[in-house]
Amino acid sequence: MFKFETISVIGLGYIGLPTAAAFASRRKKVIGVDINQNAVDIINRGEIHIVEPDLDMIVHAAVTGGYLHATTKPEPADAFLIAVPTPFKGNHEPDLAYVEAAARSIANVLKRGDLVILESTSPVGTTEQMATWLAESRPDLSFPQQAGQRADINIAYCPERVLPGKVIQELVTNDRVIGGMTDRCSDRAIALYQIFVEGEFLRTNSRTAEMCKLTENSSRDVSIAFANELSIICDKLDINVWELIALANHHPRVNILQPGPGVGGHCIAVDPWFLVNKTPDEARLIRTAREVNDSKPKWVIEKIKLDVAEFLQENPEKTAKDVTIACFGLAFKPDIDDLRESPALAITRQIASIHPGRVLAVEPNTDMLPSKLAQHLTLSSIEYSLNNADIKVILVDHKEFKAINWRQSKGRVIDTKGMLFLSQFKNT
Ligand SMILES: NC(=O)c1ccc[n+]([C@@H]2O[C@H](COP(=O)([O-])OP(=O)(O)OC[C@H]3O[C@@H](n4cnc5c(N)ncnc54)[C@H](O)[C@@H]3O)[C@@H](O)[C@H]2O)c1
Repeated sequence: MFKFETISVIGLGYIGLPTAAAFASRRKKVIGVDINQNAVDIINRGEIHIVEPDLDMIVHAAVTGGYLHATTKPEPADAFLIAVPTPFKGNHEPDLAYVEAAARSIANVLKRGDLVILESTSPVGTTEQMATWLAESRPDLSFPQQAGQRADINIAYCPERVLPGKVIQELVTNDRVIGGMTDRCSDRAIALYQIFVEGEFLRTNSRTAEMCKLTENSSRDVSIAFANELSIICDKLDINVWELIALANHHPRVNILQPGPGVGGHCIAVDPWFLVNKTPDEARLIRTAREVNDSKPKWVIEKIKLDVAEFLQENPEKTAKDVTIACFGLAFKPDIDDLRESPALAITRQIASIHPGRVLAVEPNTDMLPSKLAQHLTLSSIEYSLNNADIKVILVDHKEFKAINWRQSKGRVIDTKGMLFLSQFKNT
């Protein structure tokens, strides 16, 4: 009942490939499925197509050891884990087309006794919807919504919580929420993950498990929005928000997060919309938090424009063409090179498109700008930008920027990350 000889992972991206490699490293036969032929070819050569520390070694060992192979067409297995994208459409409506395509593609190879797990971050009810798609495609098999504990196929929702950059470690050590459509589905899902997971298993049903993942990311989003709103209020009231938060956090039961130029990445900025979309009248705070965080880059851009105007007032011999702006940081969070959905990148790109003078981009985690950006922007060193920019905009708290004594740098500084406040505690 609980034996899994062959395991298939559908979608070999940032989540699916490390998961496939984790099973393979425990000497299970793993079939990785992806519609991207290029990714499949790279993996079958024992290489990887994404950036994640240590993953290359594990995939190489798994492929050369004969435990992992990739293909574009699903093959029979004892368990299927689906980790395909769940983006939203233009109107913030979730796009479940990838989940539906993945479910329908495995339906053909399902056999009695198989386990299907959805790992993609999903709106509440998606697992039940997936079970309906599977049942439509395979009327010869029974599913939990029809036969409960006696179903031929077991189905569960088990969200992924790993942090990019630490995936290999967190896959093993994180606690796992297990949302079976029945108790038996949960039992079998736990048995599957026990192959490599050392964290605790937290049993619930599929709807609560789906909601749990959305709640975790919405909670972070709301907390960041509070900090971002405070930063705007404090700016208006001439109060240093960084000092304010440090003071307030001395209260034993207060823990305010730090503000920034907005919220980026493909999780926190996306997942709360799945809740807003499902319950628009009820999810008022969650929607407002999204709007507050999404509007912060525009506020920063207005600040930069105002600063340029003030600079020109102080230097009447100059025109906007003579003003050099340096944007410090492009990534969506510190100490990584990931530019996806980055507010820092959006701000820099917008400034480069409206400012007639030079715009320098300072990003110590990359050697080259994406070609689209390179036309409008110059990638510049920290030192050159500190010495030559009239206006410096701090957008990301990379460790290299934390090392700078911003109070001693000449020219104007627009600080979205509290570096100036930190600088006062530096000796030099
Ligand atoms: N990346 C993260 O840090 C993270 C963390 C937690 C949860 N998630 C969630 O996990 C899911 C996957 O995210 P990701 O970052 O791995 O995405 P990704 O884009 O890196 O990978 C998804 C892969 O699925 C493949 N694919 C698409 N449709 C397919 C189909 N029908 N059959 C087979 N393969 C298909 C794509 O080609 C791609 O390689 C999303 O729902 C995401 O929200 C991601």
